[in-house]
Amino acid sequence: MDKLITEVKDRLQRAKCAAALTGAGISAESGVPTFRGQEGLWKNFRPEDLATPEAFARDPKLVWEWYLWRRGRIAPCAPNPAHHALVTLEQRIPDFTLITQNVDGLHRRAGSRNILHLHGTIWEVRCTGCGRVEENRDPDLAYPPLCSGCKKLLRPNVVWFGEALDPAILARAEEALNKCEVLLVVGTSAVVQPAASMALWAKRAGAYVVEINLEPTPLSRAVDSSLQGKAGEILPRLL
Ligand code: OAD
Repeated sequence: MDKLITEVKDRLQRAKCAAALTGAGISAESGVPTFRGQEGLWKNFRPEDLATPEAFARDPKLVWEWYLWRRGRIAPCAPNPAHHALVTLEQRIPDFTLITQNVDGLHRRAGSRNILHLHGTIWEVRCTGCGRVEENRDPDLAYPPLCSGCKKLLRPNVVWFGEALDPAILARAEEALNKCEVLLVVGTSAVVQPAASMALWAKRAGAYVVEINLEPTPLSRAVDSSLQGKAGEILPRLL
């Protein structure tokens, strides 16, 4: 492990262009629940009941209750050393893009700037009528939350299963993955597309790909270095 850490550290030190792709595991040490695994959210809830456009059409109140409950879980959580390490990398590496599947906002709170939120953010709402997006951090949002402009129902500004990612964000992610010399893939089970394939896109384009995860994933055999352990302990060691 020490040898691998040194290798990755050297590569990051030399890189003019790098990227990171993060998932729920990077926020686990901050106290934010992950989706899969022993205590993951999908153990107790079914995605098709809560995180699809059909679920929202069927029972918008239930879906809102779940998102407000998650806001309440996330609100007291602070960024951890893994989030902070990525801020430092962004400051050191001339061209650094952070691609995240997380909606918790902890990368922004830590101080990362160049972030692509593939799955949106839980701290914004979007009007189902006019499409207007607004910041909204209220954990007790009264139901039904309505657009201040057109009075239609608001929804969380997140991407649900069965929905397409914002094409502009996806294009910027592809560009970053195509040009990065090093890609760090941190705390993702690598099962939800298209994020699950992104490490392979970068690898095909010539990047050195490093995975940091508590356990092996479908990506582990395909990457150049697989570092097993907690993101909050491993990432600071790469600086
Ligand atoms: P998952 O919950 O699927 O995976 C979390 C990953 O983090 C697992 O592989 C864990 O082993 C790893 N992990 C946990 N704690 C860790 C730690 N301290 N350090 C390093 N690794 C750790 O979360 P995602 O891969 O982000 O989408 O899930 C992808 C998407 O599925 C989410 O964005 C969400 C979900 O359903 C939507 O809601 C559309």
